[in-house]
Amino acid sequence: MGEPDQPSTARMIDFWLGGQHHFPVDVAAANAFEQAYGPCAPVFRELRAFLGRAVRAVAAQGVDGFLVFGAGVPTMGNVHEVATDATVLYTDVDPVTIRLGQSILAGSDRAGYGFGDATDIGTVDPAQLHRFVPGWGRRPVGVVFLGLAAFLDDATLTRTLDELYAAAAPGSLLAVDFDTEELAGHPQALAMMGPQFRMRPPAAFAPLLGRWAPTADGIVPVAEWRPDGPPARVPDAFHGVLATRAGD
Ligand SMILES: C[S@@+](CC[C@H](N)C(=O)[O-])C[C@H]1O[C@@H](n2cnc3c(N)ncnc32)[C@H](O)[C@@H]1O
Repeated sequence: MGEPDQPSTARMIDFWLGGQHHFPVDVAAANAFEQAYGPCAPVFRELRAFLGRAVRAVAAQGVDGFLVFGAGVPTMGNVHEVATDATVLYTDVDPVTIRLGQSILAGSDRAGYGFGDATDIGTVDPAQLHRFVPGWGRRPVGVVFLGLAAFLDDATLTRTLDELYAAAAPGSLLAVDFDTEELAGHPQALAMMGPQFRMRPPAAFAPLLGRWAPTADGIVPVAEWRPDGPPARVPDAFHGVLATRAGD
C-alpha cells in the first residue's frame, strides 16, 4: 500500500490510541495538533471506551449486526472486537483508510470494510450490507456514528439521521457523539480543524436526533455514559448518546 501524503483524523486517532495502523504523515499531524491541544490521547481513549460500552449494551439486547459509519481504523477496541458474536460492516469515505481497514480485516468472516458516505446510505454496497448486516431494514441492528457529526452541518446531519431512522428496522439502536465547545478555548487547535468543523452545545444537539429517542442515559459526556467505575477525569470534549428507533 502506498503511503498517503495527507493525514487522516481516523489514523491520527489510531496513533493516539497506541495503535499500529498509521503513517508518518498522520504522526506529524497528530504531534502538531497536540502542540495546540494537549489531551488528545486521553479524550480519544474515552471516546473509544464509550464506543465499547455502547456497543456492548446494544449487543446485550440481542442485536447481532452492526453498520459503522466514518469507521476509521477497525482496531483498538472497535466494534467487532467488542461485539464478538456479531457481524459488522465498517464504512468510510477515505480510500486509504478503507484499504487499510480491508487489509486489517482480510480473512475475517465476521467483519468487512467498504466505501460508504454516511450522508447517502445508497452508497453502501448492497452485497456487503447483505453479507455483514443481514436483515438490514427488517431486523434490529446497531448503527455506529462516531467522530462524524462534527464534520456535518445541522441540516445535513438532521437529514442523514432521519434517513437512517427510516431505513433501519424498529428496535435498532444508534450510537452517536458530537464535539462540545471544548476547542473554543484552544483557538490554534480549532483553526487546525478547518472551516467545516462544528462544535455544539448539548441543547443544540438534541433536536438533530429527530425521531431517534435517547435512552434514559441521556446525552452526556462520553466518560459519564454508563461508566464501568468512577468516570475518567478527562476534558469534556465529546458528548455521546445511545438512541432507539421506535416501532412504526
Ligand atoms: C474523526 S474520524 C473518526 C473515526 C472513528 N469513527 C473513530 O471514532 O475513531 C472521522 C472519519 O469519518 C470519515 N468521514 C468523513 N466524512 C464522512 C462521510 N460523509 N461519510 C462517511 N465517513 C466520513 C473520515 O474519513 C474519517 O475516517
